[in-house]
Order: sequence, then C-alpha cells, then structure tokens
Amino acid sequence: MIQGLSGKRIVVGVGGGIAAFKAVEVVRHLQRAQAEVRVVMTPSATRFVGPTTLSGLTGRAAVTDLWDPRYPGEVHVELSAWAQGCIVAPATQNTLARLKIGMADDALLATLACMACPTVLAPAMHERMWNGPANQRNVAQLREDGYTFAGPVTGPLASGHTGMGRMQEPEEIVAILGTLLDDAPSGLHQDLTGRRVLISAGPTQEDLDPVRYITNRSSGRMGFALARAARDRGAEVVVVAGATEVSPPAGVRVVKVRSARDMQAAIDDALDGLDALVMTAAVADYRPAERAEHKLKKQTDEAPITIELVKNPDILAELGRRRATTRPFLVGFAMETRDIVKYARRKLREKRVDLIVANEASVAFGGDDNEATLVTPEGDTTLPRMSKLALAHRIWDHVSSAL
Ligand SMILES: Cc1cc2nc3c(=O)[nH]c(=O)nc-3n(C[C@H](O)[C@H](O)[C@H](O)COP(=O)(O)O)c2cc1C
Repeated sequence: MIQGLSGKRIVVGVGGGIAAFKAVEVVRHLQRAQAEVRVVMTPSATRFVGPTTLSGLTGRAAVTDLWDPRYPGEVHVELSAWAQGCIVAPATQNTLARLKIGMADDALLATLACMACPTVLAPAMHERMWNGPANQRNVAQLREDGYTFAGPVTGPLASGHTGMGRMQEPEEIVAILGTLLDDAPSGLHQDLTGRRVLISAGPTQEDLDPVRYITNRSSGRMGFALARAARDRGAEVVVVAGATEVSPPAGVRVVKVRSARDMQAAIDDALDGLDALVMTAAVADYRPAERAEHKLKKQTDEAPITIELVKNPDILAELGRRRATTRPFLVGFAMETRDIVKYARRKLREKRVDLIVANEASVAFGGDDNEATLVTPEGDTTLPRMSKLALAHRIWDHVSSAL
C-alpha cells in the first residue's frame, strides 16, 4: 500500500485534457491508500470525464462550478481548508498558465489559490505544448513557488505520437504525494544515499529494415520498480530503457535507447562513478547481420527466406571481465523457461557477476508480481512470489550490504 496517505484528506483537481479519464484512477489509488477524497473540476474537464463518475466514487459531489447554489458558502475556501494534500491531474497548459499568474475564476483555480498544503501537479499535454517557451516559463515559476511536479514522462500521447508530455502513471502521482505527506519520507532507511546506480530496463529492438525489427516481450516493469526503490532509498538513479509502454518513476534520469548496441553505448557513457549496475533489460542476443536501407519486399515465389543473425555484445559479461575494483557491483537477471537456478548459477560463473536474479518467463513478463531466486557466489535465496517493487527492495537490500 502507498504510504503517507492513510486517513488524510485529499483534494483531486481535474483539468480539461484527454488524460482526465485517468483522474478516476488517481482517486482509486488514493482510496486504496485509505485517503478521503474530494474532487474539483474545471468546466473543460467536465467535457472529458463525467462529474457523476467522480461524485459516485468519492461519495461527495464533484465541485465543478463556483456559482453552484448547492454550495451556499465559499466552496473554494471550504475545500482548501479541508485538504491536507492536493493533486491536480491532469494539469493542462491552460491551468498551469493561469495558476502561475494567480487567476481564480473557476472552482479549481479558486481552490488552488487558497490551498496551503502540499500540492502535486501532474501535467499532460502534447510534446510541443509542453516544450513551448511560455509553458516552460510557467513550469519553472510554479516550481519556484513550491509546487511539486509529477512528470510528465515520455511515452505514447493521445495524438498517436510518442514523446514527452504523457501524464505520469496515477499510482506514481499518488506515491509522490504520499512521500510529501509522510512524516518519515517513504518509511525506508536511506541506505543508498550518496550511491549512484544504473538500471537497464525493457526490451531492445534490432532493426531488419526501416519498418521491421526483432524484439521480445519485456515490459520494463521490473527495471522501473528497481529504479523507484533505489530512488526511495536515496540513490542517484539512471535508467537506460528500451522501448517500454510503462512510464518510469519520477525523479530518475531516463536515457531512451533502441538496440543492444545503443544500450551498451549509453551504459558505457554512464559508468563513471557508478556503484551498482542492474541489468534487467532483455537485451537481444542476436541482431540481423544487415539492416536493409529500404523496406524489404515480399518475394513473388513461395520459397522461404533466411535472415542471417549475428551475435550482439554481451554487456554484462564484458563488464564482468573487468577487475572487481574497477567496475560497479554487477547484478544480472536470468530469465528461463526451465532449469532456472541451474542456468542462473552457470551465468553467475561465466559472466563473473556478483548477483543473478533468476526468474521464470511466464511469471516475470508483463505483470506486477515476480517470483525469484537470488543466486550469489555465497549461495541461493529463494523468495516467495511478491510485487516487483518488494522484490526490488530485496535486491537492493543485498546490493546495499555488499557495497
Ligand atoms: C480533444 C482535446 C484534447 C485536449 N487535450 C489537452 C491536453 O492533453 N493537455 C492540455 O493542456 N490541453 C488539452 N486540450 C486543450 C484544453 O482542453 C484547453 O486548453 C482548455 O481550455 C483547458 O481548460 P482547463 O485548463 O480549464 O481545464 C485539449 C482540447 C481538446 C479539444
């Protein structure tokens, strides 16, 4: 359960963007964390998601109109006095701009104008809107004014493009508010403070031609859970991520890559001063020998075609060959469909790494849980099935005591 929110009174502000439907999930995550929630929406937001849905979920009428006769008093003053924390999700460009200059002509802005508690803004907009100079000026000013930003992140946008501007995942937004409200931040001891860690995550893509590639089913979830756990324990975190649908946690540096060779170059660039490297990425073992300059055409006859594959660099093994004193602590993942621990022990020996996390493909791929055995030169620890975040903490427990 997300910490820091139990029994807390939280206002969720909803702006008018496509991501407004995700406000429903923000409310649900807050409620799962045992917070009490009330909602205030801009008039535009009500065009994207029905106030009835949010009223139904919270058991209190979503406030949509400063002039609504159902609220005889000053609803914005009452709401802001009630709140112990606030999330605006999505925060549109328009709302950010108007908040920055202190406008108060709708229920959300008037409430924010009175709000005295920690407030998390979760922007969502097209990449060009996000990068626009006016928006960037507004965001910089709002940060200076003390607002906490959750995202945005790089990912698929409503327009069909992929880029910066996607709203941070609702659970992450709620976790950020939880951290702000938690008396003991995140409830974890900060045993990785001063440490720099790199995590590779997700699949690589190996091009056949300009439109086709070879890849695998890795989701990136395990890597992002490790990044989040390391961040919460005080580490400086870099994530080198292949193409993933899942958003990375806030507060970590993300380097996006495509192929195994891109990933190797990005990791090499970040090696300086690194304390630990955790390779969760499903790096393709092979790539097409050639990348065709133009799209390959279908043959007219029925004869099978052959794609020649060549071996990719083995990033972990190459680092493992370095002397232990000149390289970071190395953690690899072994994903198998059978004889999991046997292959993991072999991988530990052959690649000369410090820890192998052995997991089974059908459990590990895609979902939120994982079941693993930690294989080290000193012996194995078999763990029960647990969330990827909980497993990430078990892995950092091990790394932290070894560093
Ligand atoms: C289909 C559609 C999608 C939109 N999506 C976004 C968006 O994702 N982010 C954003 O900042 N504005 C978006 N807008 C523009 C806002 O709806 C518009 O600026 C509105 O005035 C925002 O009002 P509010 O900030 O009071 O909610 C969108 C508009 C339309 C018609």
